[in-house]
Order: sequence, then C-alpha cells, then structure tokens
Amino acid sequence: MPFLKILLVEDSPADSRLLWEMLRDSGIKGRFALDPAVTLKEAISQLSSKKFDLVLLDLMLPDSAGLDTFRAVHKACPDVPVVLLTGLSDENLAARAVREGAQDYLVKGQVDPATLVRSMRYAVERHVAERSFRPSPKLSEEGKKLCPDMVGSSDELKEVRSLIETVARTSNTSVLIMGETGTGKELVANSIHFLSSRRYGPFIKLNCSAIPDTLMEAEMFGYEKGAFTDAKQSKKGLFELADGGTIFLDEIGDMDIRLQPKLLQILENRTLRKLGGVSDVKIDVRVIAATNVELAEMVREKRFREDLYYRLNVMVIGLPPLRERKEDIVLLAEHFMDENAPLEGQEGQIRKLTPETAAVLSEYNWPGNIRELKNVIERAMILAGPDEIRPEHLHITGGQEPAPAARPGAPQYSMDMSLEELEKAHIKNVLEKTGGNITHASKVLGISRYTLREKLKKYGLREAENA
Ligand SMILES: Nc1ncnc2c1ncn2[C@@H]1O[C@H](COP(=O)(O)OP(=O)(O)OP(=O)(O)O)[C@@H](O)[C@H]1O
Ligand SMILES: [Mg+2]
Repeated sequence: MPFLKILLVEDSPADSRLLWEMLRDSGIKGRFALDPAVTLKEAISQLSSKKFDLVLLDLMLPDSAGLDTFRAVHKACPDVPVVLLTGLSDENLAARAVREGAQDYLVKGQVDPATLVRSMRYAVERHVAERSFRPSPKLSEEGKKLCPDMVGSSDELKEVRSLIETVARTSNTSVLIMGETGTGKELVANSIHFLSSRRYGPFIKLNCSAIPDTLMEAEMFGYEKGAFTDAKQSKKGLFELADGGTIFLDEIGDMDIRLQPKLLQILENRTLRKLGGVSDVKIDVRVIAATNVELAEMVREKRFREDLYYRLNVMVIGLPPLRERKEDIVLLAEHFMDENAPLEGQEGQIRKLTPETAAVLSEYNWPGNIRELKNVIERAMILAGPDEIRPEHLHITGGQEPAPAARPGAPQYSMDMSLEELEKAHIKNVLEKTGGNITHASKVLGISRYTLREKLKKYGLREAENA
C-alpha cells in the first residue's frame, strides 16, 4: 500500500483517537499521515489547500449533518475517495451516500483494524488504479446501480426493508425470497449483498431455469480433470467463484431434484464435492434463493426436497404483488420518471403525472408488477415528450394490451424506433400470429422458450392464458 495522506473529519476526540490507534495497529502502520478536521468548514478549507488520498468522514459534525455533509465534501473534491464513519442510527443515510458516490461506510464501534484498512485500500484502489494493491473484488458501478433505495411507503415494503437490514447484518444466513414476477426479488438479493459485510466479495447470479439440467452440475459445482471425456482440466463452479461473497439462485424451484442434495451439503457443512472429486472443498458463501412458485406445494408433489426446503425456509422475505400495495404505485412511477434522463432541452423541468394518470395507474392490477410499471412509465415518457403524462400515454386498459391500430398482423415498424422497441413490436406481432403459443413463437423467433418468456416479462407482454 502506498503512503496515504488522509483527512480525518471527526468532531469527537474519543472517536478520532480510536481511529488513529486502529490505523497505528493495522497493516499500514507508519505508512500514513493523518490530518484532522473537526468541522465541515475546516475540512473544506483543508481540501482546497492540500492534496489528500482519502477522506474519512463523520456525517454528524457541529456545522453540518447527514447527507449534506457528504455532498459538500464530495463537491469540494470529487476526485478524492470518501469513506464514511457513522453511528448505527445513521447507517441508512450512509448507505444512501454510498449510492451518491461515497466509497464505503463503516459503523463506529463495529470496525476492526482489518476492516478499516480493507475499506480504505478498496476506496483508494479505485482512484489510484496504477498502484500495486492486492487485488480485491470491487463493488462495481453496476452493483451500486442495482442497489438503489427500495422505493415505497407501504407497511409491506417497510417490513421488507427492515428484513433486508436485519439479514444484511448477518453474513451466513441463507435467505429465501418469494414473490411474483417483477416484484423486486433480484433487487432485494442485491441489496442484501451490498449492505452486508460480504459486499467486498463477489455477487454471483445463477438462474436455475436458464441452464439445462445436464450442464447445471458442472456449472454450479465445477469439475476435476478427467471427470468426463471433455474435462481436460479442472474447472471451478459458480459456488467456488462466489467464495467470500454471495450466490443468488434465481428460480430455485427449477433446480433439478438430483442436484438438490449438493446444495443442501453446502448449506449444512459449507463444503462441496466437485464432479469427479475425491475430497470436499471448503466454501464460504451466503446463499440467497428466489422463487415465484410455491415451494411448499412442490414439496408436497415431491418435486422439491423437503429437507432443502426447510433449510431455505428459515429466513423468508415475501414480496407482495404491487396490486396489494397500491400506495406504492404513484411513488414508484415518480421514481422511474426521475430515473429517466431528461430529454434534451428539458433538463431541470419537472415532469408530472396528471391526477387522472395517477388514478389509472392506481386502479390497474399490474400482473407484471414493478417491472411492468417501469416499462409503462418509460414508454409513456417517450410518448408524452415534453408534456405531462396523460392516461392515453400509458397504454394500459384494464390489463389488456390495446389492439393494434392498423391492419392486424401488419408490423408497426418505423425508422425512429429503437432496437428494443423494434424487438418488442416484432415479438408482439409473432405472438399474435401464433395465437400466443410460446413454443411456436419461440421457433419462429429463433430463441429458446425461456429467453422468450424473459423477453415477455421485460416488455410487459403476456403469453396466451392456455398456451
Ligand atoms: N421497491 C422498488 N423500488 C424501485 N425499483 C424497484 C423496486 N422493486 C423492484 N424494482 C425494479 O423493478 C424491476 C424488476 O425487479 P426485479 O428484477 O428485482 O424483479 P424480480 O422479482 O426478480 O422479477 P422476476 O421474477 O421476473 O425475475 C427492476 O428494474 C427493479 O430495479
Ligand atoms: Mg428476477
């Protein structure tokens, strides 16, 4: 680790001292200089007169509190990485600051020297890429994007948020996330990972229905050289690659029942046996599984192992469908409007929903849940242009996609459509032609049924009820 010039912004002498001692006792002993500041004003003035490699920042200062403290510092020196020091009570704020660009946050009283140094190293690493650090898995930009606030004010969503925070404080408990399509299961899994102490480790996602059963075992657990004819050398499976981090098993109900004992072994003994292996490998991962089917029912039908079910069922986060938390609908819609970049020339303008639009959104039953809402809003913003979003921009009519305006079957393509819009329009046309038959449509489109289903979800389209 190179020599570090650190600005410590902290008004409590006791906390400053503790931190200083931790650094002194840590691996970077003698390789850092610490300049103190006790107010925001002092911090800004130091930052404008000297060059620092890192800021350690307490959010609660005599002359500034909360996110504003971070924003002011970040604005003064956007190029210097900031690690926040927070009390337990403002952990939420800190998590938000991380999304606004802070590198990390550490909860006072819960930090040990090793964590402190790891966090600092990671923070600096991003800014001084050319220096030689021990490589550590990074909290990717994408990771941060995937972990925005869970928007919503309903009691159901509050409960979900509090469960996320609770499990994020543990690092090994497995979690089962249940909910209909588009309710935010993946977002929850992401949030747990990035709020937990495993956030420095990898986050690996595996969709159990996307990989054919025959390849699944090798993909998940890896194999030793010679395990089968093509195994010229040994290969790590996704579980091993996720070591130190989190693995997200999406659509766990589709996991082949013959592979389930292997997952159980990981959950129970934290070991796994590679294909063709003779001994067990130790494995340190948190397993988060998600399902949109009733696993209990699958257990009754002997399609899912009961012992695995009970293992996974210890910590369950249930995501209610959007139609059961109507007060979140308008909030989410506004959130998605904020998220969309303003059109050129419209920066700074506030785009609004009319009261009629809000009413239509609230009454609709959202079979595709939040993903569908997001798609509807994105499309409506394009259609509305600079205007307010009115009901006719929504294209939802009590759960049915409106019939095509022109000759049925005639593609509605035009030169100003994006590729995504084209794809959606084409899929829609093919589906209409095939009477909503997924198998047939996927053949015409040259993609797997699974991919087609994913695309239908993505675009908020629906297959025929009895296809
Ligand atoms: N509470 C929320 N606040 C903001 N955005 C949300 C919220 N819940 C979900 N989303 C967004 O809605 C979309 C769908 O969420 P996600 O992919 O997590 O759903 P899912 O339950 O995994 O769906 P599927 O079962 O189809 O895989 C994503 O873009 C996600 O970011
Ligand atoms: Mg998902």
